Amino acid sequence: MNRNGSDLQPGEIHLYFVDLRNYRCEYPVTILSPDERERARRYHSTNASLQYIHARCLLREVLSLYLDHNPGDIIFEYSTKGKPHIRGESLDGVQFNISHSGDAVAIVVSRGRRVGIDVEKIRDDIPDLELAKRFFSYAEAAAISRVHGLKRAEFFLKIWTRKEALLKATGEGIGGLGNSINLINQCSISHNGILWQVHDFAVPSEYTSAFVVEGGECFIKKREVSFLGGLKVFYSVGRDFINNLSHDSSKHTRILHSPQ
Ligand SMILES: CC(C)(COP(=O)(O)OP(=O)(O)OC[C@H]1O[C@@H](n2cnc3c(N)ncnc32)[C@H](O)[C@@H]1OP(=O)(O)O)[C@@H](O)C(=O)NCCC(=O)NCCS
Repeated sequence: MNRNGSDLQPGEIHLYFVDLRNYRCEYPVTILSPDERERARRYHSTNASLQYIHARCLLREVLSLYLDHNPGDIIFEYSTKGKPHIRGESLDGVQFNISHSGDAVAIVVSRGRRVGIDVEKIRDDIPDLELAKRFFSYAEAAAISRVHGLKRAEFFLKIWTRKEALLKATGEGIGGLGNSINLINQCSISHNGILWQVHDFAVPSEYTSAFVVEGGECFIKKREVSFLGGLKVFYSVGRDFINNLSHDSSKHTRILHSPQ
C-alpha cells in the first residue's frame, strides 16, 4: 500500500469504510502485538476472533499511511476508559478511532483533533423504543416513537451512532452522555465546554454510521479514492462546514466501490 495518506493536513478528516469480506491484509498476522493476539484468542467464536484480527491488521495498515512506522511497529496505548491512541503521537499528531459491526469496519483519522466514529448494521430486532426511553433525551425518544417499522430501527440507530461517536471522540465511553444531549440531527454541539461536529458518514444502506470531530468551523468535501476493496472517502475540514450540516452529506460525497 502506498503512503498516500501522508498529506493529511491539520483540520482534514479521512474516513474509511471497509467490508472485511473484501479485505486481505498484505502483512502476516505477526504484525499484531502480543496483547492483540491474546485478545483474539479470548473470543468465543472463530468468526469473531478473525474479524478482530482483520480489523486490527486493517487499522495498522491504515495508520501506517500517516506515520513513519511499518504496520507492525505501531504501538497502541489505552486510556483508563479504553480509548486507544498511538504511542509517541502528541495531541497535535495523528488521532484515530475505529468501530466495527457485522463485517464492516469504519475508521476515522485526523491530525490534531480528537475524533470518534460508530457504525451499526441496521437490523429489526432492536428494542428501540425501550432503549430510547432509557438512554435518549425526551425529544429524541418522542421523535423515534413517531416512526414505525424498519424506519424506526434505522432512525434509532442513526441517533445511537451519533451519540456513540461523540462518546468515543471524548473518550468517555458509554456511560458519559446522560440523556440531555439532543442528536436528532447532525449538528455542532458544545459538550463539557468543548465544541464538537457531529456528522453522518454515508455508508452502504445496510449500515448506518456517524463520526464526531473536535473543534470549530469546518467544511465537507474534497476528494474520493477507492481503497482496499472497500471504500475510502476524504473530507477536508475548513470554514463552511456548519452551513453544510443541514444538508444531506451524500450530496457532497461520492463513494466509489473498487472493482471486485
Ligand atoms: C467504547 C464503546 C462505546 C464501544 O462501543 P461498541 O459499539 O461496542 O464498539 P465499537 O465497535 O463501536 O468500538 C470499539 C472500538 O472502540 C475503541 N474504544 C474502546 N473504548 C473506547 C473509549 N472509551 N473511547 C473511544 N474509543 C474506544 C476501541 O478501539 C474498540 O476497538 P477494538 O475492539 O478493536 O479495541 C464501549 O465499549 C464503552 O463504552 N466502553 C467504555 C467502558 C468504560 O467506560 N469503562 C469504564 C472503565 S472505568
